[in-house]
Amino acid sequence: MQDKIGDMAKYERHVFICTNQRDASSPRGCCDPAGKAEFQKLFKDKIADRGLKGKVRANKSGCLDQCEHGQTVVIYPDAVWYGRVKAEDIDEIIESHIIGGKPVERLVLPEECINTKECPHRKPKEKL
Ligand code: FES
Repeated sequence: MQDKIGDMAKYERHVFICTNQRDASSPRGCCDPAGKAEFQKLFKDKIADRGLKGKVRANKSGCLDQCEHGQTVVIYPDAVWYGRVKAEDIDEIIESHIIGGKPVERLVLPEECINTKECPHRKPKEKL
């Protein structure tokens, strides 16, 4: 059954890909030092290549506050957070998680790091 907004089906998953850019001197680093969103475009292209366009959307995101964990990606509605994602990991995330429903455990950020200042990897605020 479709909703009243239109005839298009809702997306089954949203992939939010941090494209935040910071100055190279920032101790927290950032996910997109070049500011070109190339990683997000690659994710989007690979989703389209797998025929998932219209079902899965790869969105640019601002800082997801996981900067110390390298390239950060979060997939909803599963609320699975990935860190240190590399271009060569995208196919596995699409195949295992998005298609197969099984998150790629080796890239999943620990629960203790999500949405908390208690993350052991987080740089102290006074150093920012
Ligand atoms: S810059 Fe990507 S999570 Fe903060």
